[in-house]
Amino acid sequence: MKHYPFPHLRTKLPGPQARRIIATDERFVSPSYTRGYPCVAEKGRDVILTDIDGNEFLDFCAGIAVCATGHCHPEIVAAIKAQAEKLIHMSGTDFYYEVQAVLARKLNRLAPGSHQNHVFFTNSGAESIEAAIKLARYKTGRSRLVAYIGAFHGRTLGALSLTGSKVIQKQGFAPLLQGVTHIPYPYCFRCQFGQKNGSCRIECFKYLENILFQKTVPPTEVAAIFIEPIQGEGGYVVPPREYLVELQKLARKFGILLVADEVQCGMGRTGRMFASEHFGFVPDIICTAKGIASGMPLGAIIARADIMDWPPGSHASTFGGNPIACAAALKTIELLEHGLMGNATRMGNYLMQRLQRMMKKHAIIGDVRGIGLMVGIEIVKNRRTNEPDPKTRDKILDEAFYQGLILLGCGPNSIRFAPALTVTRDHIDCCLGILERIIRKIRKR
Ligand SMILES: Cc1ncc(COP(=O)(O)O)c(C=O)c1O
Repeated sequence: MKHYPFPHLRTKLPGPQARRIIATDERFVSPSYTRGYPCVAEKGRDVILTDIDGNEFLDFCAGIAVCATGHCHPEIVAAIKAQAEKLIHMSGTDFYYEVQAVLARKLNRLAPGSHQNHVFFTNSGAESIEAAIKLARYKTGRSRLVAYIGAFHGRTLGALSLTGSKVIQKQGFAPLLQGVTHIPYPYCFRCQFGQKNGSCRIECFKYLENILFQKTVPPTEVAAIFIEPIQGEGGYVVPPREYLVELQKLARKFGILLVADEVQCGMGRTGRMFASEHFGFVPDIICTAKGIASGMPLGAIIARADIMDWPPGSHASTFGGNPIACAAALKTIELLEHGLMGNATRMGNYLMQRLQRMMKKHAIIGDVRGIGLMVGIEIVKNRRTNEPDPKTRDKILDEAFYQGLILLGCGPNSIRFAPALTVTRDHIDCCLGILERIIRKIRKR
């Protein structure tokens, strides 16, 4: 078995410094956060994260699919430093500065479709969703919205109204936005309509067209349909291309705006700048954040210029489009275009192939799916019934941490692989070696 220099654990986990920090955190930080295991990050370089006790972990979550260029990429650090020396903040709401205008021009060029776009800058994914909700309502003069079961769009009240992921996220926060309807996502592995993958006639789409829009929701009152081109928190679910093609036709027919939530699947992670491109999907509004600036807080919505024609004062943000975040985004995009997106495709294919081989050996892997470096596996009781096994999934994530591998779950029983786009074959081999050892151990119990 090949020996890798990573991960490298020096103390029992959590180490003494980690325990000290966790004790402070538990006293003073909001208990609403969902820490699965005691990881106290001190520094990061590429795909290696070092904790406060000097333990080095192999990081396959990249700060929840954010640090696309790896932790503290030297060129990102240099871009941040150079901008910080010149201008830290001015507020793009009331003033002009070059990096914001240049980044908007760049995003306009990168967005799918040949039309001209306008860009509105935010600080996070949820804020991008809020901006898209407001823009869609403003532009159409309609109030209703359609979103998907399993979707995660964020936790501010508008975004939360569209989220359909976990009840705990909504419990106690009503009333939310009125007029939001959730429909089943095209989730072929667990088809809500009892169809078999590959042989269906997209019954899930027909539900929208023939049931929802004919019985309960007048389509002419719908401002927008919000869809993640690949569902993220819901389980890394890849829809059939046909679904998105049909959705476009239907939306255009009724003048409904299509909003692609590319917060998790966008910015190069799938090997294309936007995941929509894999499906020939040309949204009216794209929401982005997470990977856009390699960890600096930035989000953006990119909308057709004839849609984003709201007047001065109708929407704005003090911090959105912060100069340092914009400088980091410009450098991130340069790195994505000059090698990292290609690597995401190559390494994503390699990861998928290796996982598919593992699935043949281990009946607790029910499904392997993804595009580029947005890859998920479902943990099931067995492949005959494919009954979800969230407990075993949680055990695997926990055990991985104690063996120096950082992984996150998604959906009720899936594991996501969302490493930095700099990841190599050695990193993948090491990650899957650890995972396989854990699965073997769990199956013996
Ligand atoms: C698809 C998607 N949309 C929106 C959000 C919300 O982003 P943020 O946490 O930056 O508000 C997330 C976060 O995980 C996401 O995955």
